[in-house]
Amino acid sequence: MTDDPVPIETRLSEPEYYRPPPSFVGQANVTDPTVFDEFDQFPEGFEAYAERLDWDERWDTVFDGSDPPYFRWFTGGRLNAAHNCVDRHLEEYAEKTAFVWEGEPGDCRRLAYQDLYREVNEFAAALRAVGVEEGDVVTLHLPMVPALPISMLACARLGAVHSEVFGGFSAPALADRIADADSRHLITIDGYYRRGEFLQHKRKADDAREQLDDDVDAVLVWTREDDLHPATELTERDVLVGDLLAVHRGDSVDPVPRASTDPLFLMYTSGTTGKPKGAQHGTGGYLSYVTGTTHSLFDIHPTDTYWCFADIGWITGHSYIVYGPLANAASSVLYEGAPDHPHRGRVWEIAEKYGVDIFHTSPTAIRLFMRWGESHLEPYDFDFKHLTSVGEPIQPEVWRWYYDHVGGGDSVVIDTWWQTETGGVVLSNLPALADMKPGYVGRPMPGISAAILDDDGAELEAGSGQAGYLVLDRPWPGMLQTLQGDDERYIEEYWADFSDLDSDDWRDWVYKAGDSAVEAADGYFRVLGRIDDVMNVAGHRLGSMELESVIVEVPDVAEAAVAARDHPEKGQVPDAYVVLREDAEAGAEVREAVREAVATDIGKFARPDHVTVVDSLPYTRSGKIMRRLLGEISNERPLSDTTTLEDPAVPERIREQVSGE
Ligand code: WT7
Repeated sequence: MTDDPVPIETRLSEPEYYRPPPSFVGQANVTDPTVFDEFDQFPEGFEAYAERLDWDERWDTVFDGSDPPYFRWFTGGRLNAAHNCVDRHLEEYAEKTAFVWEGEPGDCRRLAYQDLYREVNEFAAALRAVGVEEGDVVTLHLPMVPALPISMLACARLGAVHSEVFGGFSAPALADRIADADSRHLITIDGYYRRGEFLQHKRKADDAREQLDDDVDAVLVWTREDDLHPATELTERDVLVGDLLAVHRGDSVDPVPRASTDPLFLMYTSGTTGKPKGAQHGTGGYLSYVTGTTHSLFDIHPTDTYWCFADIGWITGHSYIVYGPLANAASSVLYEGAPDHPHRGRVWEIAEKYGVDIFHTSPTAIRLFMRWGESHLEPYDFDFKHLTSVGEPIQPEVWRWYYDHVGGGDSVVIDTWWQTETGGVVLSNLPALADMKPGYVGRPMPGISAAILDDDGAELEAGSGQAGYLVLDRPWPGMLQTLQGDDERYIEEYWADFSDLDSDDWRDWVYKAGDSAVEAADGYFRVLGRIDDVMNVAGHRLGSMELESVIVEVPDVAEAAVAARDHPEKGQVPDAYVVLREDAEAGAEVREAVREAVATDIGKFARPDHVTVVDSLPYTRSGKIMRRLLGEISNERPLSDTTTLEDPAVPERIREQVSGE
């Protein structure tokens, strides 16, 4: 599977525990520890989550494991996600804020549930008018504007499957995802604000279309302001959303009841090959899981204002900005822009302005706030009772800073481990039911069974101090259904290593997460990081091969390898190592061409700072690049075992080339 040995746990110094404050515990949604026993009644325990939804038809089977690893939840049931997130709240919460959106320049828009209902219905009518039908995949390429959740919910209302591509992705990345999903409709926007600049976003859609063999049927173009930005050009396939909505004012569309197992959306993520994979999530299982975990973990009450400071374009936003919070009738903040525009206190200013009391973000953001310093928080009057973190391991000192300076020492701080594929959080502490322990994500969520395995698939005991492969050995409703169009890769990536592939008993199937972890004697898990050739850049997953396949397209480059370098703020960044063609000249120019190629083909967030020209890459005798050794060079660590290399002298030569730069 991988060349990389599982790293051995470097022990943390004295573990310390922090008690959740009694004021928090007193108001928490879940305070009864028997919840774990109830959910351990597998699979019936998970019915408690499904009960939180409105079903057009109730399920007849909770869990169907008869065709592993294609697990099916709440079969026989029918429901609509948009109805559950919007319509059913109208009776009690029509006037309640669903989203309060703040644009980067300071413009605001409040959408009550009633407003969201109207907007979703009108846009669903518009989508239907341009030919979107139940089961179609609609690609969205939208930034953090209200049009994004409205578009997602409008698709869901019609039973269409949305596939949102993070707004920061470039045209070729967008084109790949449109083609892979065979999507006939694209939704974009003229532009949006980032660090004071109006970005011409729609141009990426135009460029993407040029790269498609098979053009989309229509592009729906939202506008950031009332009118289309004057610099935006329209083509014959473009339809202005405003024009469509003018025709569909006041229209409503009946929510289409979907089978529980029908797909709700695709979310592309990076894997170990060059090609991104489209994780497919179902309707009933996914929605039950995110609705239940939003209630128990994020602990949202009708009076709370919740802010998940993340982008809806990634799974965090799908599950814990859109579906989970809306299904719980939450009031959430959405923010369009950068945290340091126009000043480094912007986040805290927004928190004060809207009275945010539950705040969720990533270690990357927290490290940035930490570097900027406490002085940027001090002018603002905000009071969080509940803080969470997601996306990367949160180092104890970063945890403590978050607890002391953002939480004021009297808030709960929850780390949450999960993945695009798991749909919702699977490892974490329920906030009122466990002590917090910096550096440790916590225990498995109710109903989740996690384990750590060694290379041979044997389970490592809690407290062994040994790191191994993090696996989930019992299905859960939030799990992906398959990878879009690629069942084989679904098995290969997640199941092949630790499952009995011939067995039709679901108990013989084990989901491999791709992370290494260690379990302390108290049952708390500490996640160390990826064990495959996937890195985590500022909380965004990137595959080495994905970058390499872009870099080798640069005319002067013959071979490329990418390794992760540890970075004080972003967690990890990609370092590129390239071998040039015979006649090419090593120099600043080719290095810049490599950086540009990545920015253009994937997105600026993936651009490598360091590009090193080397004579040769470390290949094994079987012809695989040992990226682990490059990682050691990037991080100035001693080299591990090089005996399987074709030429064991290569890594030392590369090290000299790096230091000679
Ligand atoms: C990978 C999944 C889940 C939403 C954001 C990322 C890493 C995620 C944690 C955490 C340590 C974490 C893992 C995982 N990761 N949360 N709390 N502690 N590592 O979703 O893009 O699918 O990436 O992010 O490596 O496999 P994603």
